[in-house]
Amino acid sequence: MKTLWIVYDKIQYGINEWFASRLLELFGECFDASIVMREDLPETFDRPDVAVVRTIDPSFSKKLELLGTAVINPPRVSEICNDKALSYKLAKEAGVPFSEIYDISGKKLPPKGVYPLVVKTASGHGGKGVRLCRSEDELKKAKKLLKGEKLVAQKLVGDGKSGRDLRVYVLGGRIFKAVLRSSDSDFRSNFSLGGEARPFDLGDNDREKVYKIVKALGEPDFIGVDFLVSGGELFFNEIEDVVGTRMLYAVYGIDAAKVFADYVKDKYGA
Ligand SMILES: Nc1ncnc2c1ncn2[C@@H]1O[C@H](COP(=O)(O)OP(=O)(O)O)[C@@H](O)[C@H]1O
Ligand SMILES: [Mg+2]
Repeated sequence: MKTLWIVYDKIQYGINEWFASRLLELFGECFDASIVMREDLPETFDRPDVAVVRTIDPSFSKKLELLGTAVINPPRVSEICNDKALSYKLAKEAGVPFSEIYDISGKKLPPKGVYPLVVKTASGHGGKGVRLCRSEDELKKAKKLLKGEKLVAQKLVGDGKSGRDLRVYVLGGRIFKAVLRSSDSDFRSNFSLGGEARPFDLGDNDREKVYKIVKALGEPDFIGVDFLVSGGELFFNEIEDVVGTRMLYAVYGIDAAKVFADYVKDKYGA
């Protein structure tokens, strides 16, 4: 039987214990499966045949791949998804539109006339490192506050008071489901910040944008491709590598662990 690790860090495990246990139960049917805490791993270890990485750690994914493990998602995918600047570069090369971004590294500032801007940390998640700056003064404050972090500044989409964005779940390179998230009280519509979520049917134009991103990424196993929505148009926003599945349960009643585990079993099971 092939060995399979479900790799978590302790914080993510604490938040997602139910999902992790469900995966373990499902993988147990066809792998010698275990949950492994990233922090508890020694420098050298016997590699597993397959690793489902549910912690954000692209260099660890790379290490596993070099050892010969089949890694989900592949390290190149993790590296791009967990760096918003790299993600926008990929979208640009793929010809997928996104709201204009500005280089604010070091002492650089955007042109005066482009505010309001959204400043976000390149590696942020859950809306935590995301700030709205209505003026150069506010941007300078945000830069000071986020000193030491790689930042992305982006032209605001929408009115800055409410937010709408679209999460497209992609499994095995195919669009699985889409969910529209909205918030009437925050420009950030993250589900984890209380945004509401409902089902969404993608049009052909939207699907094409998703597939351009997927193709540019290579072979992502399970990701979320996120767009900002304005005037019925989709603007690429980011890609989630360790994509959360709560919205799939909440909106569609889907047992995402089962769907994901079935995919992994098909791809790597004996
Ligand atoms: N340029 C923008 N214009 C309007 N809203 C934005 C913009 N960038 C981000 N947001 C809002 O903030 C939320 C969090 O930003 P995001 O880039 O997805 O970072 P995170 O990785 O923290 O989720 C998005 O879901 C969206 O609702
Ligand atoms: Mg986001």
